[in-house]
Amino acid sequence: MTDFIEGLPKCELHLHIEGTLEPELKFELAGRNGIDLPYASVEEIRAAYSFDDLPSFLKIYYEGMDVLRTEPDFYDLAMAYLRKAASQNVRYAEIFFDPQAHTSRGVPFDIVIRGLRRALIDAESRLGIRAQLIMCFLRDFQAEYAMATLLESLPYREWIVGVGLDSDEKGNPPVKFKAVYERARQEGYLLTMHCDVDQENSTEHIRQAIEEIGVNRVDHGVNALEDPSLVEAIRERGLGLTVCPISNGYVTDSMKADAIRRMLDLGLRVTVNSDDPAYFAGYVQENLVALADALDLSREDLVQLERNAFEITWLPRHLKDAYLAELDAYAAG
Ligand code: HPA
Ligand code: ZN
Repeated sequence: MTDFIEGLPKCELHLHIEGTLEPELKFELAGRNGIDLPYASVEEIRAAYSFDDLPSFLKIYYEGMDVLRTEPDFYDLAMAYLRKAASQNVRYAEIFFDPQAHTSRGVPFDIVIRGLRRALIDAESRLGIRAQLIMCFLRDFQAEYAMATLLESLPYREWIVGVGLDSDEKGNPPVKFKAVYERARQEGYLLTMHCDVDQENSTEHIRQAIEEIGVNRVDHGVNALEDPSLVEAIRERGLGLTVCPISNGYVTDSMKADAIRRMLDLGLRVTVNSDDPAYFAGYVQENLVALADALDLSREDLVQLERNAFEITWLPRHLKDAYLAELDAYAAG
């Protein structure tokens, strides 16, 4: 099955580019920027990755980004991910970035986006992997800062396909960002947001995301299964769910494999993604293998997961169809 998964044309829709910063690149960027890391080796960095919930992960995630300072740093970060993803036959990715994690420490918005954008263009021509950017707001900052970030993004509107919401969910419900999301929709952005797993008020947050914000997709969203009316709302609207099994295993009590099985059986558009692969030790290939092992997935299940993913991408219909045809050819092969 590992071989079948390797060859499978894949699509990744829940991937934080800052969460792909591997310890090796962290050292390289620290050296380039004259920053002293409080670690002596790659092994020491990895050993410090101990987290058991979302806040403990986020602390290490934000600390790690301090080495990202210049446009070439962001280019190298994105290029390293795209190379890795292409090697796993990821054909298309929608990539989150957290501009406020950089502007809040003095790195200008345009440095971040120009570096990322240049990597996407080069990766498409050199590696044949296509990608688009989703700009995430940090939900533990004020809504006014998110709005200012949205306005700052407008000169780059054509480089960003949609907006998302991430960081610490506790006490930061979707409705806090209602005005920001309304403006984002007016500007033509597509809308998604994290409804992280096993949070305080998870089901209420999913309800708000769907009914009050009107999202086009839900990131994670596993707890929707606890409320039949949410399952119905997701099905009725055809909303995709970007689930991240290995990540779930780090920040909650399990990979939530059984929940993914139920979502597949219910015909929901559930997908498998890596979230922050440098921190959770698994890219999309490893996530699919871990899930296939846990659930004894069939080839049809795996093809269905990727069909769901290509179907819910924010690509024009003809490109979706081209990727789906590639997937069908592989499944038939
Ligand atoms: N949840 C919330 N914030 C994040 C995540 C996540 O899974 N990854 C990076 N920032
Ligand atoms: Zn995430």
